[in-house]
Amino acid sequence: MTQARKLYVKSYGCQMNAYDSQRMADALAPEGYVETATPDGADLIILNTCHIREKAADKVYSELGRLRELKDEAADQGRRVVLAVAGCIAQAEGQEIIRRAGYVDLVFGPQNYHQLPDMLARAEHGKVVETEFPSDDKFDHLPAPSRASTRRRGVSAFVTVQEGCDKFCTFCVVPYTRGAEVSRPVAKIVAEVERLADAGVREVTLIGQNVNAYHGSAPDGRAATLADLLYRLARVPGIARLRYTTSHPLDMDDRLIEAHRDLPALMPHLHLPVQSGSDRVLDAMNRRHTRAQYLDCIERLRRVRPDIAFSSDFIVGFPGETDEEFEATFSLVREVGYASAYSFKYSPRPGTPAAELEQLPEALKHERLQRLQHEIDRQLDAFNAASLGATLDVLFEKAAKRPGQMVGKSPYLQSVHVMGSANLIGGIYPVTIDELGSFTLSGTLAQNAALNLNENGSLIVA
Ligand code: SAH
Ligand code: SF4
Ligand code: F3S
Repeated sequence: MTQARKLYVKSYGCQMNAYDSQRMADALAPEGYVETATPDGADLIILNTCHIREKAADKVYSELGRLRELKDEAADQGRRVVLAVAGCIAQAEGQEIIRRAGYVDLVFGPQNYHQLPDMLARAEHGKVVETEFPSDDKFDHLPAPSRASTRRRGVSAFVTVQEGCDKFCTFCVVPYTRGAEVSRPVAKIVAEVERLADAGVREVTLIGQNVNAYHGSAPDGRAATLADLLYRLARVPGIARLRYTTSHPLDMDDRLIEAHRDLPALMPHLHLPVQSGSDRVLDAMNRRHTRAQYLDCIERLRRVRPDIAFSSDFIVGFPGETDEEFEATFSLVREVGYASAYSFKYSPRPGTPAAELEQLPEALKHERLQRLQHEIDRQLDAFNAASLGATLDVLFEKAAKRPGQMVGKSPYLQSVHVMGSANLIGGIYPVTIDELGSFTLSGTLAQNAALNLNENGSLIVA
């Protein structure tokens, strides 16, 4: 029996990284590593990094500086701490990380973490840098998490179905850090989702950098689309909610839109990034669709699923963006009306085509971001305010901070608090919203919900 060692993983960036961090813990569990919530006292510290904007990268180097002190203190007490940098910065910078931060022991990319036990053994004898894209599927080599650790992770789970990106938007590092698009076979995804459902998971979010470009092999040997996969997963007993992210407007095909009509489990909330409302900027970004095509896609989704709500990502201050072009983005936001959205100042990334173009002044980007963000915040408030008095189905996840309260998610990913006990967890109950907080909603379990509970606290569906 190996001695228990402590593992601390910190995730930056997107949900793909969050999922990878869990799988790293799964890969290390058979080696005797147990996860801890803080870096203090950990034997192995992994920073799972993001390269998407300059700020994200800067954060990691300052965190590394802090961890160096921790590592030195442990060494003074005769204890070795292994410090690893994983994820997209690791992929992009490789050896350079060790050059800048010589106290880092191990650097590995997103396609290498299934080799963790082997890399750790090698790191006993010197620095290890592993950023090759291996030809085998890392998921085939990863042990599944135990039922207990799946339960601990809660009733809502992520499942990676697709990785990498072939789109090459001119601002984006992802095609370089994550490599070409690869989809996992349908059977493996179904097996993973069945295992999650068996451990009590009720909601699955399928993730991929370009999730709706999914084209995994089906059991009959053909390539399945994301729509095919969703129809199949909707049949897995116990799975009540399905979501997918992140989608590209170009890959929203007719059948995927129909799935929003046909599958009650598919939640009426879609993250569909558009980046800009100007055709000239969309073209310069290599997004390969127009403003009108995006609006048409939104319209078609609303037609089949009138209660659907959207979120998006926006970039302001892309090289050459004029005042009129920014106004086009602003007017698109007004036209669509989002439930929420993220907006970013354009950040030039090494090795991407747009980084070579003449850049706009920081002050201008800042001003545009403020204006857009203000409108997005207003829309978020309006969306939440519209929930007041409404009855929403809430999937209960955990106890809230305040004693006696439980918290869960609405179909629109809003956090909803109610007075209730732990037997609500894993159940989906109608809640009438009666209060708006700054980031959350509060409500009361609808009367009939209380009547329809079985002794396990699950809703009895007639
Ligand atoms: N695959 C997804 C998004 C991946 S990155 C898609 O195609 O939409 C997440 C978001 O980060 C992007 O939608 C974009 O808005 C933002 N982003 C990516 N590169 C950026 C850059 N260089 N500067 C600012 N924001 C960026
Ligand atoms: Fe980046 Fe564009 Fe690919 Fe999204 S679609 S990951 S923004 S290159
Ligand atoms: Fe960041 Fe890599 Fe995700 S760059 S956004 S962690 S794919």
